[in-house]
Amino acid sequence: MDSQPPHCEQLTPSGQLRHLLTLQNLDRELLEELLTRAESNLRGPGELPARDQSLAGRTVANLFFEPSTRTRASFELAAKRLGADVLNLDVNMSSRKKGESVLDTIYTLQAMQVDVFVVRDASAGVPAAIVAAVQPHVSILNAGEADVSHPTQGLLDLMTIRQHKGSFDNLSVCIVGDIAHSRVARSAALGLRTMGTRDVRLVAPTGMAPDPAHYPGATLTDDLARGLDGADVVMALRIQRERLPNEGRQVSEADYHAKYGINARRLERADPDAIVMHPGPMNRDVEIAGDVADGPRSVIVNQVTNGVAVRMAVLTMVMESRRDR
Ligand code: CP
Repeated sequence: MDSQPPHCEQLTPSGQLRHLLTLQNLDRELLEELLTRAESNLRGPGELPARDQSLAGRTVANLFFEPSTRTRASFELAAKRLGADVLNLDVNMSSRKKGESVLDTIYTLQAMQVDVFVVRDASAGVPAAIVAAVQPHVSILNAGEADVSHPTQGLLDLMTIRQHKGSFDNLSVCIVGDIAHSRVARSAALGLRTMGTRDVRLVAPTGMAPDPAHYPGATLTDDLARGLDGADVVMALRIQRERLPNEGRQVSEADYHAKYGINARRLERADPDAIVMHPGPMNRDVEIAGDVADGPRSVIVNQVTNGVAVRMAVLTMVMESRRDR
């Protein structure tokens, strides 16, 4: 399957969001609108969550062919808080186990009047192939595509950075870890570039460095100290063992933590007001020390909260675009 669709397929003729497969070619104005809408969905601790009926009568289907906690739960909560019916397909008990293809699964559920498919898959190109197959009123939201794209994660990361830092222009953002296999890093870097971020640094150990063509404008190093120097945002990434070649799966966690783990001592190199991010799921004391993950600079919990708000914003925008198809 092809990896990325032409960006026009994501947008209606007048530029409204119809599907969300990638942050590529989404302009700053659209990203700002998504972030602002998402912020309007936030409520304080102990308050009732934001809720409306903008998806009442609509059906959202979650199809996760790879494991997920945050993305799947937050899409489900987002859809329910907008009044939608939600179908969580249990893929291990589905007819895919009997050999049914992804597209036949989609056709089957489309016949049950699903309006939005939220799809995570280990193969690149699956969301785009589904876009090409569904009826015009149906929207596809990419919830994680191989090592290629995780656009709602990118949006929630942008939202979290904007909350804590205000604007992007003068920021130095350091992303550390298994960049080569990270769809989170790909989407974050795309979004940061669109938002005008001055300095995006990628720090990757040997064997985890990405193709630089996927990261235009970013700098790449294996020197963690250099990457952290004066950084305003530090984002630690999990080692994607499920995507590493066999020989790479033997990476020692202790060795990795000793060389690339984000701990309090190393953070002293960053800006004194630096925030620490992690998309989750995290492996404590591997890519990030437990006390840093729980410490005052950590915004990891905010990222999770923002995930629901962002997914509500995306669901309402794609539903609104139906009027323009
Ligand atoms: N960040 C993220 O995608 O987490 P899940 O795999 O738990 O959805």
